[in-house]
Parts: sequence; C-alpha cells; structure tokens
Amino acid sequence: MAKILPLRLGVNIDHFATLRNARKEGFPSITQAATMAISAGADMVVCHLREDRRHINDDDLYLLKKVVVKDLDLEMALRDDVIKISLDVKPDKVTIVPERREEVTTEGGLDVKKHFDQLKDLIKEYKKEKIETFLFVEPDIEIIELAAKLGADGVELHTGRYSRAKGKDVIHEYKRIKIAAEKGSESGLLVAAGHGLDYQNSALICTIPQIFELNIGFSIISRALFVGFENAIRQMKDIMMLNRNCS
Ligand code: PXP
Repeated sequence: MAKILPLRLGVNIDHFATLRNARKEGFPSITQAATMAISAGADMVVCHLREDRRHINDDDLYLLKKVVVKDLDLEMALRDDVIKISLDVKPDKVTIVPERREEVTTEGGLDVKKHFDQLKDLIKEYKKEKIETFLFVEPDIEIIELAAKLGADGVELHTGRYSRAKGKDVIHEYKRIKIAAEKGSESGLLVAAGHGLDYQNSALICTIPQIFELNIGFSIISRALFVGFENAIRQMKDIMMLNRNCS
C-alpha cells in the first residue's frame, strides 16, 4: 500500500495583485494577503511572475520573500529576466511553467523534451542555491520519466483537463492523474497538483496518496469575496483533510 503523505495547501495570491493593478491604488496589499494566508493555514504562498507582470511585479516578489518566512513558490517561465530575478530572490521553490502572453492562465504543461538541456542546467543551478525545482507538466508517463531524468525535485501535475471534465470523462482524467502520480513517486519525485481545483473537484484528487500538495488560486480567492480569505482557506483545508482520510 502506498504511503499516505500529509497533504499541503499552496495558495496562489496573484489575484490580489490583479485587483490592485486594476485601480493602481496600491491596495489590496500582497504582503498582507501572504501573511493572512499563512495564519489561516496555508502551507505555502504561490505567485507567478509573468513576462508582462500582469499580476505581481518584481518589487512584490522581493517583499514576499521578506514576509514569507518559509515556503514561497515562484511560478515562472523559462525567460532570462525572470530566471535572473529568481536567482537573486531565492524563493524556497520554483515551479517552471509554460507561458504565452495571450493566455488568460497557464494553459498546458511544460514541453520538457524541447527544453531538456536548458532545464538540466537550470535545475543544477537552483540545486546549488538550495532552491527546489518543480516542473508543471501534463499527467503523462513519458514526461514524468523525463522530469526524473533531469533531476527535478518534483512535478506539479496539471489538473486543468480533470477540472473541466464532465460525466465519465472525470474518472478518465482522474485515472490519468493517479497513474502519473504513482509513476512520479516511484521515480523519486515529489508530486503536487494544481490548476482549476475547487471546493468540489479537489476532493477526489486528495485521495491520491502520492500527491503531497495542492496549489490553488482562483476558487479560493473567489470564495473569499463572500466568506473572507481566511474562511475560504480554512474551508479548503477542511475538505482536504476530510478526503485525505478516505485514501
Ligand atoms: N499551479 C500552476 C502551475 C498555475 O500556473 C496555476 C495558475 O496560476 C495554479 C496552480 C492555480 O490555478 P487556479 O488559479 O486555477 O487554482
């Protein structure tokens, strides 16, 4: 039987920055969002420094590094400027994602094969700086094998297709994630999951024992508008704990 790992929650706070940027008034505060997330039970603060800086910007990232004492995850694309900043800020973890300027949110998994050599060098550099590297990938066995070959610390499985699935496709997509998680764990990778997870669909993902972390943004921030940010996080943690115990 697979060992059941404790399940952690990473909360993506980009949407606070999106709201702030809409009026350019300097609020809501990104650092307040980060400290509140942790006090409400988040295990990690997640942010994405995009090419167009459409949500957090470079200054936010430096400030976040100061207030998030442990477990800051920087999602980032393979862009020279962002790589340079990441090596200066030194978050606890980076998650390498694909990025297209015109997308609303991260649409697919990273093309690990195409970027193999660059990733190999970069992972070595991050290891030297004691920064964990995760690759945001589709739940696909071949890609997981490549990630392990690269010496990445872990993979974050893209749950976008699972989250959008309807009817019997839900089980099909769930099985793809489960098989990929098993493969990742067998290959010595830490396995996280994220994208499109909400207060309903995350339940099934929590039952996969090899998954140790969920990274969630939009559904938590949306619920926060009605019940408050701390309550929204606590409610998600409750769902995670309840369903983890059903593994
Ligand atoms: N994980 C990664 C790698 C992402 O790019 C995103 C979106 O920023 C998320 C998780 C969170 O997705 P959502 O906002 O749909 O919960």
